[in-house]
Amino acid sequence: EKGTYPHFMLKEIDEQPLVLRRIIQEYQNEDNEIKLDPDVRQAMKDCDRIYIIAAGTSYHAGLIGKQFIEKFAKIPVEVHVASEFSYNMPLLSEKPLFVYISQSGETADSRAVLVQTKQLGHPALTITNVPGSTLSREADYTLHLHAGPEIAVASTKAYTAQMAVLAILAVDTAKAKGIELDFDPMQELAIVANAMEALADQKEVFEDLARDFLATTRNCFFIGRSIDYYVGVEGALKLKEISYIQAEGFAGGELKHGTIALIEEGTPIIALATQEGVNDSIRGNVQEVIARGANACVISMKGLEKDGDSFVLPKVHELLTPIVSVLPFQLISYYAALHRDCDVDKPRNLAKSVTVE
Ligand code: F6R
Repeated sequence: EKGTYPHFMLKEIDEQPLVLRRIIQEYQNEDNEIKLDPDVRQAMKDCDRIYIIAAGTSYHAGLIGKQFIEKFAKIPVEVHVASEFSYNMPLLSEKPLFVYISQSGETADSRAVLVQTKQLGHPALTITNVPGSTLSREADYTLHLHAGPEIAVASTKAYTAQMAVLAILAVDTAKAKGIELDFDPMQELAIVANAMEALADQKEVFEDLARDFLATTRNCFFIGRSIDYYVGVEGALKLKEISYIQAEGFAGGELKHGTIALIEEGTPIIALATQEGVNDSIRGNVQEVIARGANACVISMKGLEKDGDSFVLPKVHELLTPIVSVLPFQLISYYAALHRDCDVDKPRNLAKSVTVE
């Protein structure tokens, strides 16, 4: 039930801090250690390469998950769009582990790959919001997202839950492999939950940004570098699916290789700046697009902000920024859709779970 909320999407956006706290609880034992199915731990330890298979928003969570697993657990990760995987199956390593990320657990494209990799005899782990789902039943192992039912077609809380569970999984694997980490995932995720809450209390800001930047535009581009780029791609998907504005996410460094040709007088550009190492470069990109007439909205993180930024996110651990920085994009997309009288919860041409290939 959506209670006092006008739309499920807004309710689900608001539930994100709660979902994060639930995940912290569910994945922790009495001694404040990570609690995880020992078989999953073993499978992660035994593999020499991880292949993440997913679609849409879950694929975008996989792109972030790769960063966690490679940086913490030091296992190479490939992330593949499910529908493309079978046509060009990569050469597999000796001991691959397939990780299927799916909110619904019913996505036919992902299931087709699972059938194929099971036939080849490779182990499979499904990370899903629906433990009894097809992908969960047919995989060897399941990790639950604990996000509660997601009703709005546009995925919000499942995406942030996926990233949180992937972070916990990555740290757990690092520990199982004896890798020393100066990072307490539960503590850091609790900080993220507080940051999310602070954003949810400032919705008017994002309603205003949606009005200022997106009221009448035909298109909008998201730019970022490093992990901000992946969040931008998710922001673009959110915006296009519910507001029908043509939106794309670009890597800042790629602008000069072609896409900057798209910038016209008044083109909205939403830039994300949460990563210290690339702050100067993304700021350079913002100057370049402004010089070509773009209407730039910069969302930065505390400590990296500059005069004129449209919003400054509360500080969280640099690797976990996507779990916070996607909220402005979810809210801006929501309000842009509202301003344009779109059906937020049930956008045209889309179904909540895509059970055909
Ligand atoms: C976007 C969205 C879709 C799904 C995709 C995969 O907001 O909801 O892109 O993420 O269809 O669905 P699941 O995660 O159920 O496999």
